[in-house]
Amino acid sequence: MMKMAGFVKQAKESLIVYNGDCFECLGDLKDESIDLIFADPPYNIGKKFGDFIDNWPSDKHYAEWCYQWLELCITKLKPNGSLYVMTSTQAMPYLDLWLRERVTVLSRIVWHYDSSGVQAKKYFGSLYEPILFCVKDEKNYVFNAEDIAVEAKTGATRKLIDYRKAIPTPYNTTKIPGNTWYMPRVRYRMPEYEQHPSQKPEALLERIIKASSNIGDVVLDPFSGTFTTCAVAQRLGRKAIGIEAQIEYFKIGLRRLNISDNFNGEQLKPLDKSFVRKNGNDICQDINKQQGDIFDA
Ligand SMILES: C[S@@+](CC[C@H](N)C(=O)[O-])C[C@H]1O[C@@H](n2cnc3c(N)ncnc32)[C@H](O)[C@@H]1O
Repeated sequence: MMKMAGFVKQAKESLIVYNGDCFECLGDLKDESIDLIFADPPYNIGKKFGDFIDNWPSDKHYAEWCYQWLELCITKLKPNGSLYVMTSTQAMPYLDLWLRERVTVLSRIVWHYDSSGVQAKKYFGSLYEPILFCVKDEKNYVFNAEDIAVEAKTGATRKLIDYRKAIPTPYNTTKIPGNTWYMPRVRYRMPEYEQHPSQKPEALLERIIKASSNIGDVVLDPFSGTFTTCAVAQRLGRKAIGIEAQIEYFKIGLRRLNISDNFNGEQLKPLDKSFVRKNGNDICQDINKQQGDIFDA
């Protein structure tokens, strides 16, 4: 472990993790060295991340803060690199207008999900989060369409033939996902759950990393939270760099990524979930498997 001016940096094999502010840690990276960036910042909606409250004085103040780290991210991206950015539905227009002046926004993705929580009673509740997919060079970027193909639902159980063609041909059975992605949110009973207020599903990162990077490429997440991006990148044979300001989440990353099982003498243990039977059998394994498989495109 290295303690630098304002951050802690730890590396193991193809992983580098930082505990510190994203501005300082991004400054430690070489310009034009990153293939893919996934940025999932605080959304300015009043969430509590450790000792930090996600609240800016106004939308404009929040947007100004985002422009500063976005500028840095673009600098760190290779000329053929890709950038995925998430934020709240209300803040995304600010980022979209700013980004389209600097990079090419190729897709505006909607990640939607069901909510079991409190429902809005006097307006239509928000059941989606927007994601921008941007590239530096629209003529030169990675997009592994075959690696993310999904079933093309025809509505029939047997193979359909397209008789309108000169030579009748079976319809394609797979397709590239469109820009609306249905994936369940991370729930307490899912094996991937960690103690964090806005952890993103591994399935979401899997699609992004497979589509927009190759094996051995470098993936960066400047707001790592529970280090989902790094965990998925690691599983998929990519190199990963993760930055997180809060020490509690950084410790989750150290454990989740198998970098270390202790931090300053503290043993890092997975969450002791109340529903896991003490004989080791997780009563919800089957439910989780089903949930994880639900993909729509
Ligand atoms: C929306 S969460 C990211 C969740 C993550 N994608 C995951 O799957 O767990 C945003 C994270 O950014 C962290 N954060 C907030 N301000 C930061 C800053 N200036 N530098 C680095 N991390 C910061 C928060 O502590 C929080 O964990």
